[in-house]
Amino acid sequence: MIEVSGLTKAFGSKTALDEVNLTVPKGSVLGLLGHNGAGKTTLVNILSTLQRPTAGRARVAGFDVVSHGVEVRRRIGLTGQFAAVDETLSGHDNLVLIARLLGASRREAAARADELLEVFRLTDAARQRAKTYSGGMRRRLDLATSLVGRPEVIFLDEPTTGLDPVARRDLWDVVNRLVADGATVLLTTQYLDEADELADSITVLAGGRVIASGTADELKTRAGHRKVSVSLRDGAALERAAGALRGAGLAPVPDGTGGLVLTVPVRDSTDIATVVRAADGAGAGLTGLAYTEPTLDDVYMALNHHSTVRQ
Ligand SMILES: Nc1ncnc2c1ncn2[C@@H]1O[C@H](COP(=O)(O)OP(=O)(O)O)[C@@H](O)[C@H]1O
Ligand SMILES: [Mg+2]
Repeated sequence: MIEVSGLTKAFGSKTALDEVNLTVPKGSVLGLLGHNGAGKTTLVNILSTLQRPTAGRARVAGFDVVSHGVEVRRRIGLTGQFAAVDETLSGHDNLVLIARLLGASRREAAARADELLEVFRLTDAARQRAKTYSGGMRRRLDLATSLVGRPEVIFLDEPTTGLDPVARRDLWDVVNRLVADGATVLLTTQYLDEADELADSITVLAGGRVIASGTADELKTRAGHRKVSVSLRDGAALERAAGALRGAGLAPVPDGTGGLVLTVPVRDSTDIATVVRAADGAGAGLTGLAYTEPTLDDVYMALNHHSTVRQ
């Protein structure tokens, strides 16, 4: 559904995208992962025909984004970092307006609006002005507006940035429903856990280049996997726990600062239980326990890529 080859975009002397290649099969979700400035929005803008590439090619739903922009625009839904909702209108009226602009009759437009309000759990707030909505409701309305025309391909540019954890979860649920309905989605994010939750495959961008691609599990494996850290009361207990863990086939790493913490890469819940049992069985009491998932920073680091731009 999306095919990108050698795509390059320069703004003057600044190269925002550098020979990017990727494909997104129909019905799948690609997570485009990268920090601020990586080139995510530029790629989404080119694929949605808002900007022209400097070099290379891109096709969306079978149409070239440069030579067949109208065909592409007819088939896509775009939700950007900066929303296109009219704040003075209600959620319902925003959706009706767009449906009417797309050629629906008054009755069809109202029906489509009601259906989307239901899907996005905005029915109760349907008649309130959008400016009274919370951040999460706004984001859901924004996403709903991009879906009025039943697009085949949906672009979500950092759909959860700035949302609180509950609103973020809510939006994930909605995206998962769209995907279950067969949409093809390209989603950008700065969060590995979000890409893990939503995407079938992940492409990591840094400085406009693709620096890695694969499934979330593949990237996490490269990034050093999940880890459990245990804190123990004394050094002898730490040694006993480390010995037990090595005996169980795990690879505990003492923290480099001479503290009483052991960090253990784990693969699954059995490993986690083994770590807790070994620490508890070391006879000097477990004083701390932490579980960490790798982040985008771990992926960058594992790839030896330090030139990340943060804004
Ligand atoms: N219109 C523009 N003019 C000049 N530089 C731009 C423009 N748009 C983006 N850039 C630069 O291109 C790079 C990629 O930006 P962007 O695609 O917005 O990244 P992301 O969405 O991953 O944060 C950044 O260095 C940004 O400053
Ligand atoms: Mg962006």
